[in-house]
Amino acid sequence: MLDGYGRKIDYLRISVTDRCNLRCMYCMPEKGIDLIPHEEILSFEEIFRVVKSASQLGINKIRITGGEPLVRVGLPKLIKSIKSLPGIREVSMTTNGALLEKHMDELDKAGLNRVNISLDTLNKEKYLRVTRLGDLNKVLRGIKLAIEKGLTPVKLNVVVTKEINFSEIMDFVKLGEELPLDIRFIELMPIGEGRKFTHVSNEEIKTAIRKHRELIPCSEVKGSGPAKYFKTPFSQGSIGFISPMSHEFCGTCNRVRLTSEGFLKLCLHWKTGINLKEFLRSGVKDKELTEIISEAIKGKPDKHGFISRKVSDGRIMSQIGG
Ligand code: 5AD
Ligand code: SF4
Repeated sequence: MLDGYGRKIDYLRISVTDRCNLRCMYCMPEKGIDLIPHEEILSFEEIFRVVKSASQLGINKIRITGGEPLVRVGLPKLIKSIKSLPGIREVSMTTNGALLEKHMDELDKAGLNRVNISLDTLNKEKYLRVTRLGDLNKVLRGIKLAIEKGLTPVKLNVVVTKEINFSEIMDFVKLGEELPLDIRFIELMPIGEGRKFTHVSNEEIKTAIRKHRELIPCSEVKGSGPAKYFKTPFSQGSIGFISPMSHEFCGTCNRVRLTSEGFLKLCLHWKTGINLKEFLRSGVKDKELTEIISEAIKGKPDKHGFISRKVSDGRIMSQIGG
């Protein structure tokens, strides 16, 4: 369906939990966050109803996010049910990869199409320091398994900060030459703990890469998302740049988000949206639910306000799901 600004909205990101098994320094405070009580989190049945209604409005791509989606017990069951909906073309997932190896078979059987894996360093000690809990080798095994299973293209999401990984840019580029991976460098957004770190612009990253490799723009347009894609002469996949800070991508935004507590969030940044849980838990009929979602999407804001206001809506990234 089209929103109030004529953008085609066909993509829903669903955060299935606010919990995470890691504590990445720029994302979560070390002590963790106040967790949403279990009963406030949408059940799989409730999520399914939202997706079913949304699919009737032309939403055909779903991404499962968290927190860390794989900490939610029984996730493959949800994926399987969503995949059974006739309007749904693709179900993908964004994960930190720590539990991927453990659940890969079930996910594959459930029909998961693709995975994006968040990985900010390729150094084992640094990985443990930055995630405060993680084991890099597990993630690397998960990545290789995802490639073997054909959950492709497998994309690595790398959030770049001066403090953590600016020095490792070429290591990621080289990983994308050794393995068929799309490497996507993401600019840090000033949300929550992210404010404590230094943002690196995509232009700086490109300059760093160009010292070692030619960067060739990819002619084919990949997806309708916010990334701009390049390749080195040796890349197996592509190298993407996502610049929420330096280039506003809102004009072509195709997505809405469902938080784990059932709030349909119309923009990453703004509070605007609607609490679907209230309707779900007070006996709303399918048809009404579809209408409610449709009305909400018509009110989607025209752009985020990171640049103009430098404030967010109070939720941190692990609560929104990226
Ligand atoms: N800016 C940009 N990306 C962030 N993520 C977490 N916090 C931020 C931030 N402040 C990313 C994670 C993961 C995705 C879910 O969101 O690294 O890739
Ligand atoms: Fe790290 Fe992602 Fe978990 Fe945040 S949600 S702590 S970025 S793994």
